[in-house]
This record gives sequence, C-alpha cells and structure tokens, in this order.
Amino acid sequence: MSQNSVLLKMEHISKSFPGVKALDDVQLEVKAGTVHALMGENGAGKSTLMKCLFGIYHKDEGHIYLNGEEVNFRDSKDALEHGVAMVHQELNQALKRNVMDNMWLGRFPMMDKFPIVSEKKMYEKTMAVFKDLGIEVDPKTIMSEMPVSQRQMVEIAKAVSYNSKVIVFDEPTSSLTEVEVEHLFRIINDLRNRGCGIIYISHKMDEILRISDEVTIMRDGKYIATRDSKNVTMGEIIKLMVGRELTNVYPPKDNVIGDKLLEVRGLTAEYSKLHDVSFDAYRGEVLGVAGLDGAGRTELLENIFGIATRRSGEIYVNGKRVLNRNSRESIKNGFAMLTEERRATGIFGVRDIQANSTVSSLKKYVNGLFLDDKKMYDATQWGIDTLKTKTPSQKTQIRSLSGGNQQKVIITRWLLTDPQILLLDEPTRGIDVGAKYEIYELILKLAKEGKLVIVVSSEMPELLGICDRILVMSGGRLAGEVDARNTSQEEIMTLAAKYV
Ligand SMILES: Nc1ncnc2c1ncn2[C@@H]1O[C@H](COP(=O)(O)OP(=O)(O)OP(=O)(O)O)[C@@H](O)[C@H]1O
Ligand SMILES: [Mg+2]
Repeated sequence: MSQNSVLLKMEHISKSFPGVKALDDVQLEVKAGTVHALMGENGAGKSTLMKCLFGIYHKDEGHIYLNGEEVNFRDSKDALEHGVAMVHQELNQALKRNVMDNMWLGRFPMMDKFPIVSEKKMYEKTMAVFKDLGIEVDPKTIMSEMPVSQRQMVEIAKAVSYNSKVIVFDEPTSSLTEVEVEHLFRIINDLRNRGCGIIYISHKMDEILRISDEVTIMRDGKYIATRDSKNVTMGEIIKLMVGRELTNVYPPKDNVIGDKLLEVRGLTAEYSKLHDVSFDAYRGEVLGVAGLDGAGRTELLENIFGIATRRSGEIYVNGKRVLNRNSRESIKNGFAMLTEERRATGIFGVRDIQANSTVSSLKKYVNGLFLDDKKMYDATQWGIDTLKTKTPSQKTQIRSLSGGNQQKVIITRWLLTDPQILLLDEPTRGIDVGAKYEIYELILKLAKEGKLVIVVSSEMPELLGICDRILVMSGGRLAGEVDARNTSQEEIMTLAAKYV
C-alpha cells in the first residue's frame, strides 16, 4: 500500500439527537500512515463523529468507506473486528477487575484443550503488548488501584492490541503526565510508520501542530476545512474553530489585592511527598501554583481542602484556625475545590444539568420544607449563561453533553456554593480556546469580588496570563514564589527543578 492511499473516508455524515443536530453533512478523509487531527470547540461534534464511525452511534445519513469499501458497523465489537479502534474521552473500565481482564474483556484467550479462559495466556499476551509499547504495568494490578494516567495508558494499549488500521484517540492526554505524553507520541509515531491512520482529538494546540500531518476543523456540527499541518498557524486554526479572530487570550488583570485571607503553615501530608508548605494569600488575589508533574501541586490543594490526610500543619482563614478535616467541613469554612479528575469523579451521569449544578448548594434553594424550583432554575441558568454551556435544556442528562460542557457544569456547581476561597486544579483542561477565555474572565471577576482563587495549572502561559503571584512547587516542597507580572518561564522552571 502506498503511504498516502486513502484509508478512511466519511462523507455527508449527519446525526441528530432530540433537540440537537450534532452532525450536519460532515466529511473526513484519513490517509494511511498519517496522523489526522480533529479540532473544534466543545460540542462541535468531534466525539459524535467518531462514535458514528465506531458503531456506538448510528448515523442518520452519509457513507463510511474503509479501504474503498463501504462499512456500517453495528457496534464497537464489529468495528474492532474490522480494524477500527477507539480510545474514548471518558474512560469506561471495569475498575474492580485487573488490568489484563480489562485488556481482553469480550475476547478472552482460551485454554488449548478446554473452553476455559487461560489466565496464563492472558498474562503473557498482556505482557507482550506492554513490552512492544514500552509500558511498565503489572497486568495483575486492580484498575482502581492505579492513577488515572496509567489507566489511560492501559486503554491505549488495548486499542493498539487489536492490530487496528484506524485508531481514534479522543483527548488521550487530558490525564497523562508529561512523561506519558512523550511515551504516547512515540507509540503514535510508531503506528504511523506501520501504515496506520490515526485520528487525534485534542484542545492542546501545541500537541496538534507537533503530532499531526493534517487537521480537519469542525464548528457547530459542520465541516469547516482541512489543512496541511505544516502550512497552518495556530491563529488560523483558532479562527476556523471559533469563526472569528480571538484578539485577547487573557482578560485584563484589574483585580485589587486586599487583606490577608488565608494562611497556611507547615502543611505536611501523611501519604504524599508534600512537606512543610507555608504561604499567605489575600482577598482579591489570583494565586498560581506551578511545578512539574509529581511536584505536589494537586496534593497541596487536596490537603487544604481536607480530602487527603494531613500529618501536620495549620490553616487560618481571616486569622482564625480552621480544621478542614473533610470536604463538608471545608465547604462550611468557605472553600470550594474543582478537582483534576472531575470527569471521573464529579459527575452524576444520569441526572440532569440542574441537579448536577445545584447538588452542592441545595441549602440556598430551600423554601420552607421544599426546594424552590424557580431559584434552582435561575441558579442553573446563571451557570449556563456565564460559562456559555452548550445544552438543549436544564433537563438534559449531563452524560449527553460533550466532555468540555460537562466540565462547565461541574465548575458551576462549585461557584454556586459561594466560596470565599476557590481551589481550581487544572480548570481549563479539556476546555476549548474560546471557552478558556470565559473561564479566565470568571476567575478575575471572582477575584474582583474579593475572593481568593488558587489555580494549579501545567500551562505556564496561562499562569502568567491570569495570576498575581505564583508559588512554585518542587519535589513536594515550596521552592519559591514569583511575581507573575515580573517573572519568566525560565525563572519558574529553574525553581521547579530545585528539589527534583
Ligand atoms: N447521547 C447524546 N444525546 C444527546 N445529545 C448528544 C449525545 N451525544 C452528543 N450529544 C450532543 O451533540 C453535540 C456534539 O457533542 P460532542 O460530544 O460530539 O462534542 P465534542 O466536539 O466532542 O466536544 P468536546 O470538545 O467538549 O468533547 C453536543 O451538543 C452534545 O450535547
Ligand atoms: Mg468530545
């Protein structure tokens, strides 16, 4: 097969859900031996298009050709048997079972003589796949005992293990560490060299420009354009995605720093490297937390919020000691925390947008013995309007929203608790460029109301763009503190490497 023959062709694809036309006459052409990026804002239809390919959804209209032959997969099993695999945006794993069970579920290797699953073969086959991909995970580990990033790597290994010709990666890096991202990119390059066609969905511009050969852009369920990645700029992609030029990446920092609000003294964790962290923070401040993976940024927030066990240390709010022994106590003390793994842990899938938005602030809506529907409606609508959440209605089940829009609902939930101190762990992960701006604006607005916002982010430009000060963590300790208006990425990186 020549390197550039067309492997997959999708044309005139349309798909509607009640109240939404998710796909409207969309096309996509992926050549063998290439990485094809698929880009678009939250809710543009990327995941839906791929689920139509993979047989999870059935298209209303259009045609799909694999190697020139028309295909119409009944379900994902059918797709896998025909050489199409997909790594999903939302992990859907059997958490109580081990790695190898998850790898071979639905296609367990049998013993030679008996129709019984062969644990030994399963183990060997898993090891062979892991070895081929350079993954170091014991196949007997129970899924729930591994960090989300490793579970993601298992999912990737599983997709590759089908020897598929077309592999879809739907935001694969959203929970990977930097080292794992590099690892994934090596795997993808290898697959490209073997002649596979890779479809890669991500909101991270730098990844797209680095890994892809071509990029197709979608907007509002429609096909917009396909470009050669070598000849396209970030600005052009953004313009095609958003439909207009984005002039400002960050809103103006016009917040005013007030009195001391939070004091953290000697915070040391029981079960992580977090050691002896002390700092002060102020009303009206946006305080960043930078550092490399494993530096203890998430652990710091979790310890303040009381969802990780503290060994020692004290927390003061307005000069008064608070214990924050668990999240309930912390919420009472005016804290809120948006966790990093919100998609895995924060969503009540079958409940609607309203329930998911209001669940942590129900007290506000009590009217006598009942909940006031109007109040709940208004609160939910405030979130939808402020964050421009794309949903047909408040009564829509949250699981039918696009990944990025689900996150906006979870952000709304925390804002509705009226916190004094907001702890945000990677608040813009999985959020498209346009909506990122809305989140930055919201963070600054909260600061202007006199709140304290603490933001953990792996994206340094983002921290420099919205923060007043940045704490730099390294090896579980506080390596230093910089003035965000008067520092550089180099200074931060130097501090981040201090205790590594
Ligand atoms: N099962 C479903 N039921 C109802 N609506 C759905 C369903 N799946 C997707 N949609 C709708 O289809 C549209 C496209 O969603 P999709 O998940 O494809 O977006 P996306 O481009 O992948 O966005 P993101 O970047 O946020 O992941 C959205 O409006 C979404 O609400
Ligand atoms: Mg998606």
